[in-house]
Amino acid sequence: QTIYLKDYTAFGWQINHVALHFVLDPHKTRVRSKIEFVPNADAPAQRFFLHGEALNLVWARIDGQDINVTLTHEGLTCDVPTGPFVWESEVEIDPKGNTALEGLYMSNDMYCTQCEAEGFRKITYYPDRPDVMAVFTVTIDGPHPVLLSNGNPVSASKDYAEWHDPWPKPAYLFALVAGDLVAHPGSFTTKSGRNVDLNLYVRPGDEGKCAFGMQALKDSMKWDEDVYGREYDLDLFNIVAVDDFNMGAMENKGLNIFNSSAVLASQATSTDTNFERIEAIIAHEYFHNWTGNRITCRDWFQLCLKEGLTVFRDSQFTSDMRSAEVKRIEDVIDLRGRQFAEDQGPLAHPVRPESFQEINNFYTATIYEKGAEVIRMLKTLVGDAAYAQAVTLYFDRHDGDAATIEDWLKVFEDTTGRDLAQFKRWYSQAGTPRLKVTEEWQGDTLILTVTQSTPPSASTPDPQPFVIPIAVGLIGADGTEIQATTVLEMTQATQSFSFTGLAGRPAASILRGFSAPVVLDHAADHAHLLAYDTDPFNRWEAGRTLARNTLLGMILKGTRPDPAFLRGLRAVVTDDLLDPAYRRLMMALPAQSDLATALHDAGHVPEPDIIHAALEALRDAVARELADVLPALYADNQVTAPYAPDATQAGQRALGNSALSLLTRSDGGKLAQAQYDNADNMTQQLAALANLIRAGRGEAALNAFELQWKDDRLVMDKWFGLQVIEADPEDAHEVAEGLTGHPDFKWKNPNRFRAVFGSLIMNHAGFHHASGAGYKLLADWLIKLDPVNPQTTARMCSAFQTWKRYDNDRQALIKKQLNRILSTPDLSRDTTEMISRIVQA
Ligand code: ARG
Ligand code: ZN
Repeated sequence: QTIYLKDYTAFGWQINHVALHFVLDPHKTRVRSKIEFVPNADAPAQRFFLHGEALNLVWARIDGQDINVTLTHEGLTCDVPTGPFVWESEVEIDPKGNTALEGLYMSNDMYCTQCEAEGFRKITYYPDRPDVMAVFTVTIDGPHPVLLSNGNPVSASKDYAEWHDPWPKPAYLFALVAGDLVAHPGSFTTKSGRNVDLNLYVRPGDEGKCAFGMQALKDSMKWDEDVYGREYDLDLFNIVAVDDFNMGAMENKGLNIFNSSAVLASQATSTDTNFERIEAIIAHEYFHNWTGNRITCRDWFQLCLKEGLTVFRDSQFTSDMRSAEVKRIEDVIDLRGRQFAEDQGPLAHPVRPESFQEINNFYTATIYEKGAEVIRMLKTLVGDAAYAQAVTLYFDRHDGDAATIEDWLKVFEDTTGRDLAQFKRWYSQAGTPRLKVTEEWQGDTLILTVTQSTPPSASTPDPQPFVIPIAVGLIGADGTEIQATTVLEMTQATQSFSFTGLAGRPAASILRGFSAPVVLDHAADHAHLLAYDTDPFNRWEAGRTLARNTLLGMILKGTRPDPAFLRGLRAVVTDDLLDPAYRRLMMALPAQSDLATALHDAGHVPEPDIIHAALEALRDAVARELADVLPALYADNQVTAPYAPDATQAGQRALGNSALSLLTRSDGGKLAQAQYDNADNMTQQLAALANLIRAGRGEAALNAFELQWKDDRLVMDKWFGLQVIEADPEDAHEVAEGLTGHPDFKWKNPNRFRAVFGSLIMNHAGFHHASGAGYKLLADWLIKLDPVNPQTTARMCSAFQTWKRYDNDRQALIKKQLNRILSTPDLSRDTTEMISRIVQA
């Protein structure tokens, strides 16, 4: 059953107040509700309907009278009075039997909830839609020391708690937590003087992993005040860590619930990359308090309204806390790896989709990451000052609303006087635009001719031109910048832009800072730009383009690594004036899957083993080219100061570990073993372990690591994952299969399932093994997981989205697995939708 944006109608009632009472029990939790409904004069006449799934209705009353209801597949209907009325009901639910981790469920004997997008309907009968906002009072009865819900505590006694949330909210922001938890406390005073108590609740034993998250929360609160003028609006802000969680985290009002992997951090157990991600996710969920909660979405088609904006805000935060140029490069690598793959395959959909079957399948890189890119472009086009004005107007005008993309664009139109009708295509059209740039040099004038074209897709068969901000600079032959960054605004299919009065022909640096989410095709002087570009992103991009081109040559024509690339890389890597984190990004080569994309784009069939071999050969060539400088590069980047997870130290460790990887290619793992033995933090320990595995001598260290960390769930996820990621592609599927037999392979835990199978998918040549064994193994486990946890199953189906790129044999092998999954009896709606879309490629 497909739901369409165009079919939106308002709900026929509004809610004055909701009172919920929970009597907790693992298999028989009772939920009593009392909901005050008032007719909504603005809504079309309709029959009264409440969502409800997997509920046992005990009784229902209207205005105190028992009533008869008609249960439907997805909820209930009944006759109601024409005026205001009070609905009351009691239902019984089974949290412990809830393995889908949606609604109220149990994780390690602790009760918790996940209601976005449509989980509240598994808790009680309710109009479970984001445009119905209400004030909630919640009482909880249960034998647990910690009983939490949204808002402020009203009263608490042994085994009982009452909570009141004064801010009207949709049901998807409801949360409840109960269990034997310990609090890591903190506090924050807002700029207008409100004192906010902060707590990070964790399981006993995890107390030592809270300090970093707490600091990240305070930094986020301060940043949102300083940069967006947004203050917190309750006296309490709680975060809870849970081990079983389908996604990263959830912004429930005043009670954020986090996947423990997205909040728990310590020197011994977390890598620098983990710390950076945790800081960003804490910020993301906190920022939702305004962009998501105070202003929410009218319907789920508007998901990017809160997610794109909040991702954009958290990227700004990370840029301010750490290095803006490094963050930008990391984001673009991620966008190309995940969003471009989605946008260029059968799962392509607009940033604001127009239809869906299961909304959980649309928490995608397109809605989140491309959604953020669209806002970034808007800011580039209108300028920083107008952006700030428009966003302030958005908060003033729509506070308390369930808003739409039209509302969002209107504040920009009202602020700037611009007509954003064409810009809006970024929200309505799927697909990644290609920009082809050609240059013409006439006397003292450089003419850039730009053509945009977007491949048609099932959801956008006839794409129209986008508004594309193209940031451009010019670099002279002597390496100096002769034209600072200027933004060209492209609106047509083809357009020319001239720069005149130039003394000599410059090198054009196009799409600086990655000013639009497009594929750029421009035969520039990449070696010159790698040496001299004043835009840090484009300087990195020049190196990346040279690397990609040389790899494509090696793969397609068997050519040798391009000496210009190797020389340019050497110059950058040995330039001590450059930030270590930036140099380390320069040293990284494109991922195997990125090369598969590039080959496919150029009209070739990617061969995973040949891609893998070419990357290995290029790594050898880089190791030889840098042989004389690697020992110093390693030594100079050993941090001697006490460990801190900050950007400076993290950059040094990352660069040192890049050197280690290259050195390991010739020393058989000697240096890696020494690093492993001396490591006092997880970044160094894990990097050493990875290199030992690559050098073929990981066994002893893997055993030691397991012994050391067998009781730490999050570290053991790394242990499971690393073995599969670093496995020789020839045996990756066997390694993964072997690990599924390990006593700690708790496959119902999404983190553990992803540790093995997410890593198998990332081992590109291993997953695409010519035998099809990788495909079969993944399909076996997806079929097994689907009845237990449809959401996590469906998300992992995207591993197959690129299947049409590969050779006929692989296509046949994948098709067979897709059909096998699709013909599984009682396959979930989630997985059915995903596989059907993928098959129809
Ligand atoms: N709103 C959450 C976030 O981005 C994501 C939760 C989505 N959960 C889901 N089951 N679809 O921060
Ligand atoms: Zn979010």
